[in-house]
Amino acid sequence: MRFREAVLEDFPLLVELTEREGWNYTEADFVNLKNTGCAHTLVAEDVGGILGMITVIDYDNMGWISNVLVKRSKRGSGIGKRLLAEGIGILGRKETVSLFAYERSKKFYQSEGFRLDRALHFVRYKGYMSGAATRRGSYDFLRFQKECFGYNCPKILNMLASIGTVLSPVEGEGFAIVRADPKEPCVGPVVADDPVAGKSLLYAAFNQIGAGCRAVLPRMVEGTDEVERVSRLYLGERPILDEGRVFAFSGLELG
Ligand SMILES: CC(C)(COP(=O)(O)OP(=O)(O)OC[C@H]1O[C@@H](n2cnc3c(N)ncnc32)[C@H](O)[C@@H]1OP(=O)(O)O)[C@@H](O)C(=O)NCCC(=O)NCCS
Repeated sequence: MRFREAVLEDFPLLVELTEREGWNYTEADFVNLKNTGCAHTLVAEDVGGILGMITVIDYDNMGWISNVLVKRSKRGSGIGKRLLAEGIGILGRKETVSLFAYERSKKFYQSEGFRLDRALHFVRYKGYMSGAATRRGSYDFLRFQKECFGYNCPKILNMLASIGTVLSPVEGEGFAIVRADPKEPCVGPVVADDPVAGKSLLYAAFNQIGAGCRAVLPRMVEGTDEVERVSRLYLGERPILDEGRVFAFSGLELG
């Protein structure tokens, strides 16, 4: 088995693998991530082809892991473990390496040394809630990333903002990114200094898409159904979260 960085020609197969897990990734997601320069998707392969993948995101002081997936017929033989080690190796020395895990894969990460930070909620918006937002045109992504999540690298947010719509709260500073992708319409991140305006911003962002929109939330809110419980896990220093100012996480980090 060998590991290499995924290239454009691999993306259709990688999308197919993620579709079988119901993750709704598109080829454009892989391209956009790659173009940020701070995200790398690695594949594991043997003579028979691709066996699995992992995406690692370098947020400067923090490393993020996503898309850890092994082909169904190859699970349980140590490939996931090796992919994880390879991804963590590429990230190099970080204060923290973190990820979102579905309930069913939590034990896999815990067996590899990850510790539980907190439970989160992957939700589906039901509609019928009212919210308010404005469009201001300039957003301090770096400040919110640093203060709310402890990251130091706004490249992923700039990419998400360039392919989505960015809204601002009516009171105070903050932003919400809305992605009206037909395959996976989602909202996130949503952050705001003012708690009332932040919740209203979350609903305004949901309403840009309407019922069916997805998001990963730090706490359940009215008007949403939980699709699945998700946990944030970590290696190293415990990641920070400003609970008062974060209303939704970036959905692209899930998987
Ligand atoms: C999770 C996944 C990547 C694990 O890959 P894998 O190649 O099957 O895992 P490995 O064979 O390397 O297992 C490594 C260790 O984790 C354990 N493990 C793996 N999957 C597990 C599970 N679902 N529940 C409990 N333990 C699990 C193994 O027993 C092994 O422990 P050991 O070293 O003590 O024997 C794979 O099951 C998968 O692709 N799942 C679907 C996609 C997914 O949900 N990914 C996670 C996204 S959050």
